[in-house]
Amino acid sequence: MQQVVAVVGGTGAEGSGLALRFAKAGLRVLIGSRNLDRAQAAARQIASQAGAGEVTGHTNPDAVSKAAIVILTVPLSAQVETLKSIRTGLTSAVILVDATVPLEIGIGGRLSRTVTLWDGSAAQQAARLVPAAVPVVASFHALSAEALARLDQPVDCDTLICGDNPEAKAAVSQVAETIPGVHAIDAGPLDNARYLESSAALLIALNLRHKVKHCGLRITGLGHVYR
Ligand SMILES: NC(=O)c1ccc[n+]([C@@H]2O[C@H](COP(=O)([O-])OP(=O)(O)OC[C@H]3O[C@@H](n4cnc5c(N)ncnc54)[C@H](OP(=O)(O)O)[C@@H]3O)[C@@H](O)[C@H]2O)c1
Repeated sequence: MQQVVAVVGGTGAEGSGLALRFAKAGLRVLIGSRNLDRAQAAARQIASQAGAGEVTGHTNPDAVSKAAIVILTVPLSAQVETLKSIRTGLTSAVILVDATVPLEIGIGGRLSRTVTLWDGSAAQQAARLVPAAVPVVASFHALSAEALARLDQPVDCDTLICGDNPEAKAAVSQVAETIPGVHAIDAGPLDNARYLESSAALLIALNLRHKVKHCGLRITGLGHVYR
């Protein structure tokens, strides 16, 4: 069955990179934005680059209302405001995937440091802000926008997935593994999102230290958990 995926913040670097890869894999992708014109322009650009799938532009709430999986790709500073704008469209039938890395740079600090949130992680903060029945999953933190945009190359990276709903994790894993080179790994309950978010900051620190644009994460010894 073809999953309909909405990317809230899909006009940005990470969201458009994910959308591009999902469209290339033949998925139906809805680009969400605060601004309809911006969403439609991004959708046109992604569709022409991917040459596959079906990509359309929407306001964030409209995209959410039509999707089975909603991926949130906005900066931490915009996470609360964005979730408030879409939460009425989120139900038990819609999976929310939070990809937020709570970086200190958002408050004027370092790019490679995370900030501590009251809930323990950005994903748990997201879960608190949406109706309790919504299955919330944290993933995609380690997939860099830069690597996603290079359509001619596989993304040499695993993606860890955590959440409290096994079916939601399996569905998100299936979508994640449509990206060539990406293996999805079950990383346990949503409580573990703090580790996923911190490991993305670690990858950023490694990129800076070794002066590379994107290094990936590979977990060996587990096999293909969702295959
Ligand atoms: N960049 C990466 O490589 C990467 C990798 C993994 C995870 N992430 C995470 O993904 C999220 C998005 O990162 P990004 O690099 O794609 O960010 P970005 O390009 O700066 O922003 C993404 C989108 O967020 C929307 N947005 C909503 N409210 C906003 C506000 N108040 N200020 C600015 N933008 C706002 C904007 O869309 P509209 O203006 O169209 O509404 C924007 O295009 C972050 O939480 C980041 O930690 C990023």
